[in-house]
Amino acid sequence: MSTFVKNAWYVAAWSSEVGRHLLSRTILGEQVVLYRCEDGTPAALVDRCPHKLAPLSLGELKGDHVQCGYHGMTFDGSGVCVRIPGQQNIPPTARARSFPLIEKYNAVWIWMGDPELADTTTVIDVPHYGDAGWGLVDGQYLHFKTNYLNITDNLVDPAHTSYVHKKTIGNAAGEDVGVKVEQGDSHVLAWRWINDAPPVPLVATMANFAGKVDRWQYYYLHLPSTSYVDFGSIDAGLEPTEANKDGGFRSYSFNFLTPETESTTHYFWLHLRNYHPDDALVSDDVARLMTLTFEEDAVLLDYVQREQERTGVREYTRLGIDNAPARIRKMIERLQAKEAVSPAVHVLHPVSGATQPSTV
Ligand code: FES
Ligand SMILES: [Fe+2]
Repeated sequence: MSTFVKNAWYVAAWSSEVGRHLLSRTILGEQVVLYRCEDGTPAALVDRCPHKLAPLSLGELKGDHVQCGYHGMTFDGSGVCVRIPGQQNIPPTARARSFPLIEKYNAVWIWMGDPELADTTTVIDVPHYGDAGWGLVDGQYLHFKTNYLNITDNLVDPAHTSYVHKKTIGNAAGEDVGVKVEQGDSHVLAWRWINDAPPVPLVATMANFAGKVDRWQYYYLHLPSTSYVDFGSIDAGLEPTEANKDGGFRSYSFNFLTPETESTTHYFWLHLRNYHPDDALVSDDVARLMTLTFEEDAVLLDYVQREQERTGVREYTRLGIDNAPARIRKMIERLQAKEAVSPAVHVLHPVSGATQPSTV
């Protein structure tokens, strides 16, 4: 059974990846071809010619049109067929599905579900993006060989940092500190403070704390799969006001998970920080250390996926720290159930040519 939620905005690519060429990418199990029109507008079509199902990405970009590399059928950016070589008649089945897109935060976001529901105002807000005083690292990507829900589990689970990330963003001081959970309509927050403890390795490298620190971890997961982590440190004992946190060492780590298949995930990420905001060398260090951190998750979750596939079991033992991950999975199931009963959209069936109801 599919674990995907279709009616949501997902990062399809960083803006820099989409240009005057045909970029093929699998998103939610579907083949998509992305390109940019001559005026710079991005376009996305199903990467499959309605004639013999040849990948359109193997064809050619001609102006704003894609020409299939097999027999030359040509489509515009909305998927309308504008030319069939050797015939005047363009049958109604000669159409490639197109996908709504919006470009924001240097990324091209795609809507794989019902286009009628694609409200561009619902792309998640990234606070401090572009603000002076906040350093940005973006354009980052990792490929995870695991189902995206194994990653959402991980991204509302601050407890794992003491073990998986002891070389980067965790240390032993957090081992026995409980995690609190809050739930909103479309997000879950797992958080905790670890007080009067040595700074974690990444903070020790980047900041100049004289002694021990109070450290916060706020892990937000917005449905279906956008995570942001507000984490930082202040001098131990300092009152934990927002002003003091902004005056300390603070980062916002955004992780945009786009399911590729049921067992692989595109992991796009960006990072905002309040320390040395304009220092390119610090940005390089952040990119390197955060990549190292996420690769620590990737290695582990690859094994988890393989064991899930081998055993057919997701978890044997439920722990207290699984409260937030379990809530996310329940909320995802509810979204899927809602999509399953939502009014069907009529699309042209590519094989028979008949108009058939579909929820995609
Ligand atoms: S497969 Fe594309 S035109 Fe024939
Ligand atoms: Fe992690």
